[in-house]
Amino acid sequence: MWITKTIKKTQKILEKYRNKTIGFVPTMGALHEGHLSLIRRCVKENQFSVVSIFVNPIQFGRGEDFSSYPRPFKKDIELCKKEGVNLVFAPSYEEMYPDEFSVYVEEISLSKFLCGKFRPSHFKGVCTVVAKLFNIIRPRIAYFGQKDYQQAQIIKRMVDNLNFNIKIKVLPIVRDKDGLALSSRNWYLNPQERKQAVCLYESLKIAKKMIEDGEREAKKIIFGMKKTINKFNLAKIQYIEVADAYTLEPTPFIKKDVVIALAVFIGKARLIDNMLVKFKKKKIIFKL
Ligand code: PAJ
Repeated sequence: MWITKTIKKTQKILEKYRNKTIGFVPTMGALHEGHLSLIRRCVKENQFSVVSIFVNPIQFGRGEDFSSYPRPFKKDIELCKKEGVNLVFAPSYEEMYPDEFSVYVEEISLSKFLCGKFRPSHFKGVCTVVAKLFNIIRPRIAYFGQKDYQQAQIIKRMVDNLNFNIKIKVLPIVRDKDGLALSSRNWYLNPQERKQAVCLYESLKIAKKMIEDGEREAKKIIFGMKKTINKFNLAKIQYIEVADAYTLEPTPFIKKDVVIALAVFIGKARLIDNMLVKFKKKKIIFKL
């Protein structure tokens, strides 16, 4: 397995593999089974697999957790090796953002909603780094998780609008036994907080039950979810929203495909989760 830190070296190696299908999984490291599900699929579907590990400073806001973000680099490398990854690209800050860096990529519609309301330049940072990584790696397919539903939608829009010749695949959320969505940020939770972190999933299950029982009004569903979460004394809701699955605009009634998304602070950790509700020939399909 190659481990590269510079763009030049990465591109030099990849030159030799341009006749193969190149798959790519961008990450910020602290790899867990969620990341590994993407990596396994990538390795399975491509002849050459690239994983990037880069904690991207420009997608963190002031006062967010950039400096405390976990960086277990050696362990991450071992995991990638074990999964059969061919190349790990782990650049430095200076490599990605030299002094004269002044061009950004910004999606201005989907980014206004959900997490975008609370993290104003977050998706601009994500789009910029992913666009750079796409140009450096030039993969055929790139893999993202439904865990960050809004991010995946924005990346799809970027790829479409800016004509990247890359297929985006979005894979299901990997959860712990009790339902908590795996996340590098779960590292911040102490045992008591970890127990209460299940409240996000619990609230999504309540929403699912309400919809199954015929409820279609977003307000009522959100109220039911809030009631569930407020039973957990360490949880502080940032937002709960029922949004159109494609435009991400808030929807008062569930008539077509929606995403129910939420962000909740458990102690210092800001956790997110979501459930897709899709209508297929009179049947409702839940993806959570
Ligand atoms: P990171 O949080 O490391 O996530 C990397 C990828 O793993 C994302 O596509 C994310 O949706 C996916 N992922 C995380 N937890 C998951 C889970 N429990 N189940 C399935 N997939 C999961 O997302 C980022 O990094 C960054 O924003 C990045 C795209 C790398 C740009 O910096």
